[in-house]
Amino acid sequence: APETPTTSTLPKAELHVHIEGALEPELTFDRARRNGITLPYTDVEDLRGRYDFSNLQSFLDLYYTGMNVLRRAEDFTALADDYLARAAHQGVRHAEIFFDPQAHTTRGVSLETALDGLEASLSSSRERFGVSTGLIACFLRDRGPAEAERMLDELLEHSHRITGVGLDSAELGYPPADFANVFARAREAGLHLVAHAGEEGPAEYVWQALDVLGVERIDHGIRSVDDEELVRRIARDRVPLTVCPLSNVRLRCVNTLPEHCLPRLVDAGVRTTINSDDPSYFGGHVGDNFAAIERELGFGARDLREFALNSVEAAFLPEPERDRLR
Ligand code: ADE
Ligand code: ZN
Repeated sequence: APETPTTSTLPKAELHVHIEGALEPELTFDRARRNGITLPYTDVEDLRGRYDFSNLQSFLDLYYTGMNVLRRAEDFTALADDYLARAAHQGVRHAEIFFDPQAHTTRGVSLETALDGLEASLSSSRERFGVSTGLIACFLRDRGPAEAERMLDELLEHSHRITGVGLDSAELGYPPADFANVFARAREAGLHLVAHAGEEGPAEYVWQALDVLGVERIDHGIRSVDDEELVRRIARDRVPLTVCPLSNVRLRCVNTLPEHCLPRLVDAGVRTTINSDDPSYFGGHVGDNFAAIERELGFGARDLREFALNSVEAAFLPEPERDRLR
C-alpha cells in the first residue's frame, strides 16, 4: 500500500525488525541460484502465494526454511542492504535490527559468518542510506535455555559487535522465566535486554519478561491489555512496547486491524512504537504500518508524530544521537 507523504517523511527509528524476515522472494531466488540451491517453489509468485498464515508457528516454518539460502557472509550483506534501502525510503533513520544466530549455527552457518556479513552492510549504512544501526541477537526460546547459554558464551566473544540480546520464536509454552540466568549474564556483560512477550502468549509472560528478565522494552506486548494491573505498570514505568500492527493481523493474533488494541494502549498512557517485524512476509515496512493504522485505526498526524518520537526515545542511543533524529 502506498504511504502518505506525512508518514513517510517522519524521521523514525525501527526497533522491531528481524533481518531474516526482510528476505524478499526475489532475493531468496537470487541467493539460491548463486549458492546452487534448488528451491521447492516454481517462482517468486509461487513463494509469495504461500504467505498465508494461520498463527505464529505457520509463519515460523516458512521463515526458518527461507533463510536456508543465506550461506555466505555476502548473502547476509545483500539482505541487510536490501532492508536498509527499503526502510530508508520509508523514513527510518535508525534501526535496531534483530537476528537469530541459532537459526544459522544449527544449520552449519557460523556466528562469525552472519556477524561479518551483517556488519559489512551496517558499518557503512549511515553514509549510504542515512540510517544508523544496532544489532540485537535473539535467542530462540523454543530451543530452550541450555542452548541459549551456549549461544551466549559465543556471543560474549563478540559483545562489542552487538547492542543487546532478545528472545523470540514460538512463544506459547516457552515462558521468559526459563531464561533468567541467560539474561542475567547478558546484563552483567553490559548488553541491552529486550524480549518478545505477549504476542501469542499470555500477559503473565510480559510480567516475567519485566520482573524476571529485567528487559528494557517489550516486543509486541499486545496481550498486556488482558491485565489492567500490567497495563498500569508498563504505563507508569514508561516501558516501551514495540508494536507490529500488520504482523499481528497476518499471524491472526488479532482478527482485523480495526480490532487492534493499540488505541487502548495509547489511551492508557503506554509508550508504544510502530514497527514492521518481518516486512517481507507481513505486507510492508514501517511506513506501511504507519499508513495502515492511520487508515484503519483513525490515528491522526499528531498521533503518528508521537509514535515516531516514541521510537526515538525508546532507542538504545546516547542523547546527542537522539537529537539528530528528533
Ligand atoms: N521471529 C521472527 N518473527 C517473529 C515473531 N513475530 N514472533 C516471534 N518470533 C519471531
Ligand atoms: Zn518479532
